Amino acid sequence: MASKCNLTVNGRTVRANIGETLVDAAMGAWIAVPHDCCSGQCETCRVRVVSGLVDARGTGEGDTVLACQAMLLGDAVIAYDEVPEATRRAGHVAAMRALSRDVVEVIVELRTPLEYLPGQYVSVTFAGFPARDYSPTLRWDGTRAAHELIFHIRMLPDGIVSSELGRDIRPGHRVEVRGPFGHAFFRRGDGVMVLVAGGTGWAPIWAVAHEAVRARPRRDIIVIVGARDLDGLYMRDSLDWLRDHGAREVIATSRQGGGGLVRTGRPTNYLPLLGPSDMVYVAGAPGLVDSVKQKALAAGAFCFADPFLPSEQRMSFMDRMARLLRAPGRGSVRDVGLFAPQMAGEDGAGRSAAARSVNRPAARRPLQETLFAARRLMRRE
Ligand SMILES: Cc1cc2nc3c(=O)[nH]c(=O)nc-3n(C[C@H](O)[C@H](O)[C@H](O)COP(=O)(O)OP(=O)(O)OC[C@H]3O[C@@H](n4cnc5c(N)ncnc54)[C@H](O)[C@@H]3O)c2cc1C
Ligand code: FES
Repeated sequence: MASKCNLTVNGRTVRANIGETLVDAAMGAWIAVPHDCCSGQCETCRVRVVSGLVDARGTGEGDTVLACQAMLLGDAVIAYDEVPEATRRAGHVAAMRALSRDVVEVIVELRTPLEYLPGQYVSVTFAGFPARDYSPTLRWDGTRAAHELIFHIRMLPDGIVSSELGRDIRPGHRVEVRGPFGHAFFRRGDGVMVLVAGGTGWAPIWAVAHEAVRARPRRDIIVIVGARDLDGLYMRDSLDWLRDHGAREVIATSRQGGGGLVRTGRPTNYLPLLGPSDMVYVAGAPGLVDSVKQKALAAGAFCFADPFLPSEQRMSFMDRMARLLRAPGRGSVRDVGLFAPQMAGEDGAGRSAAARSVNRPAARRPLQETLFAARRLMRRE
């Protein structure tokens, strides 16, 4: 039985081993199929199988498979959209602003711009914390400077990273960004575009919606966004922007307390009847993303899904040490002004005392106390 075969990747044919994953086979000939997790979670590596013998190993959707999982069984031809190459960038937190009770806009300024497609995500490491994935977005009116990355981050009370926004993570904090990744990026087309977001899933969906309107103002766009309550609908100004710029339908839903322009229920209650020429994008909590994806696939529609899966990466020993040495003087989030109406970190004489306190150098823990804490941590490792 033959052990070798031909794999054609976006028109380039290479020799490969039968039984290799598509990512490994392409990599053997120095072709980097976009990938990130290599464990079938992130969807970055989804490719189209144009023809040939491929074992999808449970990842098949229409004519697509996950290239990090699917295995070559013989000659095959695969194709994918070219995306900017993943790279690393350094920067710092330039500003933070509360958008709702538990969602914060974090603006990161990079030393050099990072190219990405609307809808892609990046891996962000706030110095001293484990990396987390976030989806770059735009300001409410669709603006963004080239050196900026704008994130909407939901603060989880027990979140290793998000609970530290405005506390240990403040304007000036060093940041490293890796990416871009992801498969749910904006694509041109003629069909109806249905964009569905739950909570901070709005971040990539707003980036895609804005680009769709910019690229083709007369395209049929339906936007459905949901939150647990009215306060969670922090994106209302952008929804108005979309209404003013010709979106066919813009629906906001709240599980508690609808009324006026806000409907009661979940985004899935208001999905239009989908057809095979529709293009569906969905982002946010995995449950919502999965149910919209199932409906889209059942209708034969194209579906680009971005589930915000929890990260496996915990706090490393070095991260904990770095935190101990850096800034243990922690106030509450409200103390540091994150929830003041002004933009924390903005320059200008009009800043509130709370906003100014964000930029105060953090108090240092005496060395002896730090060493005691480090010894306690080592015993726990
Ligand atoms: C592709 C991708 C893009 C993402 N984009 C964004 C984004 O733009 N904005 C954003 O806020 N988040 C986004 N996330 C989620 C983000 O990466 C983190 O998982 C999240 O911010 C929690 O990190 P943490 O360190 O604060 O909490 P952790 O310490 O990781 O988790 C604390 C607790 O909360 C649970 N948990 C983790 N994530 C969630 C969640 N989303 N909802 C409910 N419970 C959760 C965990 O299981 C754990 O019990 C994205 C995730 C992925 C995979
Ligand atoms: S790299 Fe294949 S799913 Fe993440």
